[in-house]
Amino acid sequence: MRPRIRGGRRTVLTALLSLALAAPVAAAQAQDAPAARPAATSVASTELPHQYEVTGLATPAQRTALTTTGATIDEVHAGKVVITADRAQAAAARQLGYSLRRLPDPPATKPAPPAGTAVKDFPSGYTKYHTYDEATKEIDALVAKYPALLSKQVIGTSHEGRALLALKLSKNVAKDEAEPEVLFTAHQHAREHLTVEMALYLLNEFTSKYGTDPRITKMLDSREVWIIPDLNPDGGAYDIASGSFRSWRKNRQPNTGSRNIGTDLNRNWDFKWGCCGGSSSSTSSETYRGASPASSPEVQVVSKFVHSRIIGGKQQIKAAIDFHTYSELVLWPFGFTDDDTGPGMTQDDHDTFATIGKNMAATNGYTPEQSSDLYITDGSIDDWLWGDQKVFAYTFEMYPSSFGSGGFYPRDSVIPKETSRNREAVLRLLEVADCPYRAIGKEAQYCSSGS
Ligand code: ARG
Ligand code: ZN
Repeated sequence: MRPRIRGGRRTVLTALLSLALAAPVAAAQAQDAPAARPAATSVASTELPHQYEVTGLATPAQRTALTTTGATIDEVHAGKVVITADRAQAAAARQLGYSLRRLPDPPATKPAPPAGTAVKDFPSGYTKYHTYDEATKEIDALVAKYPALLSKQVIGTSHEGRALLALKLSKNVAKDEAEPEVLFTAHQHAREHLTVEMALYLLNEFTSKYGTDPRITKMLDSREVWIIPDLNPDGGAYDIASGSFRSWRKNRQPNTGSRNIGTDLNRNWDFKWGCCGGSSSSTSSETYRGASPASSPEVQVVSKFVHSRIIGGKQQIKAAIDFHTYSELVLWPFGFTDDDTGPGMTQDDHDTFATIGKNMAATNGYTPEQSSDLYITDGSIDDWLWGDQKVFAYTFEMYPSSFGSGGFYPRDSVIPKETSRNREAVLRLLEVADCPYRAIGKEAQYCSSGS
């Protein structure tokens, strides 16, 4: 163990003067800032987190223990990880005995905007990324161009009042036909902007290639595809609003009794919520699970939408991908437990998940694994979609594979390659969605007519 660094109360002076390494923060358990905290100590609340390489840990249990500091694990390697941590979280990680090496901050910046105003666009090198408004315009133009194939619904609003959209793609799109449905979601985490581009790529690809590409045509003729391109528009806007990327992850919902803003949407879903050490009850944590299951408006809206797809007692959505960055992974449930099988996950379910997951990963070069092989998470969307709704739900962690290739902020020049890279995986999931168990040769057992 490294010697413990302990100190007294943080003051504005020490907060300003001390380096992260020497910060006298007694924060082994990160605590909420009380609501009435004096303004002088507000430095930490506007402080941006940084990424660090952490060495000396190798097992999922060690990685899960590291997340109790409130940091997120962004990258997993054999004997080390990359985390995002604020000053207190970094100190807490060091107190657990690990050495941290600080990595450079995101590269691109715009000049800071005048006080009280927000930068609305991405900085140079990133301008091809779509802001929420730009994405909405592009979507509206596609709906106008392909009205028979693509329709838009506002399924609710974010905390700050932005419309949350669900796009439906199918032949005879205005009719609710008896076809297997597949859901693609993106951007639960604010800084993962490439995932919005992934959703836009799918919308463009499926509309423009319908009628010429036989596989796409067949899929839109026989499936109903739902795309929710932006689950966290408030967080996305906040991430770029200062002119410097903020590495923001959560939504922008205030927390009662705390100055800390935001809930980690991917810890807020109503299945095994907060069960297993895979999320935090502390509002200061990057993985704060919210005050109660589905307490965030965004998770509530999307949960309600998914429930609305239960027709005649049957969930119509058969398969799903939730897009994240980064690490180039194909992940499947459960995240709340290390067990491969157990209540709610039979051997056949698991084998189906693994077979389709590996099959998809073979097409994009990602690494396939059960999500808890990384570290424990609870309240994630894929656990909820499977555990509560029996949807074969995957998490894709997109480009890049590591910090060195751009981390959460790869340049916009990678967008075409890194979104089209998932075209084949998406098509394969759509093609198997009418009966996922076909992947393990058990179509007759699980998908005979009427079942
Ligand atoms: N990196 C993502 C997160 O922390 C995905 C974690 C994998 N776990 C899962 N259940 N999908 O939310
Ligand atoms: Zn994410």
